Amino acid sequence: MSTILDGKKTSEKRLAILKEEIAGSGLRPHLATVIVGNDPASQMYVRMKHKACEQVGIGSVGVELPADASTRSVVDKVRALNRDGTIDGILVQLPMPQQVDAERVIGAIDPNKDVDGYHPENMGNLFLGRPRFSSCTPTGIMTLLAEYQIPVAGARAVIVGRSIDVGRPMAALLLNADATVTICHSKTKDLAEELKRADILVSAIGKPHFITREMVKEGAVVIDVGINQLEGKLVGDVDFEAVKDIASAITPVPGGVGPMTIATLMENTFRSAKERACDRVL
Ligand code: GUN
Repeated sequence: MSTILDGKKTSEKRLAILKEEIAGSGLRPHLATVIVGNDPASQMYVRMKHKACEQVGIGSVGVELPADASTRSVVDKVRALNRDGTIDGILVQLPMPQQVDAERVIGAIDPNKDVDGYHPENMGNLFLGRPRFSSCTPTGIMTLLAEYQIPVAGARAVIVGRSIDVGRPMAALLLNADATVTICHSKTKDLAEELKRADILVSAIGKPHFITREMVKEGAVVIDVGINQLEGKLVGDVDFEAVKDIASAITPVPGGVGPMTIATLMENTFRSAKERACDRVL
């Protein structure tokens, strides 16, 4: 039986520590979220982020723009938040409606307030091995691996999916931690063969139960970033029931990676507030 990597418990522990740190700091950090349109899933994620802010003592401001908002109007909002001295972190919820140029919007965020880590400058620094803010989901996964003392240095890590929010920054973080990293994607020739070599397998493709028992090496650590609906149930990319006995450790869905994303966002926002307070003193 494998170890269940309990992201819910780990995130609650970290949020409790963070709450104490914030209370003792004399700071009142503030996160601004920007949501365009009324996608129910995005609205739910943003609500969860505001709730976590409240839990730890971070103030939050929600900016809501209509579904037909232009790129210019979203960029203008972001620039106003950049100038607002009370705001420490800015998160633009993705995806945005098609007419909005997400790249331009993300590029408009002040990199010092980019607590989501999506700005090209922050991505670049991450890939140079000196991250400032790195994306919350992969950073949360690194925290979870550390919490369970899973060795990363020298491990063969295989990531499925090359997205900008998970696959690519995950590769950089694992490489920075001295893993030997492979990124697999839709054009990978023999996916099963690549996966079978993984000591650490991270799947982030959004396909329910795509990773089967046959693809997993005995004793592998399996991280499931997928959140998919299957027959009215939330399931991951990994066929959890089939894989859990062969893996040495595995994240459940829900309750694995998801809560770690939010805890990391809170930690990044507090870090931004501390750095901005230091800058004011210097
Ligand atoms: N959409 C789904 N997850 C996320 C996230 O972590 N950050 C942003 N900005 N958008 C998302």
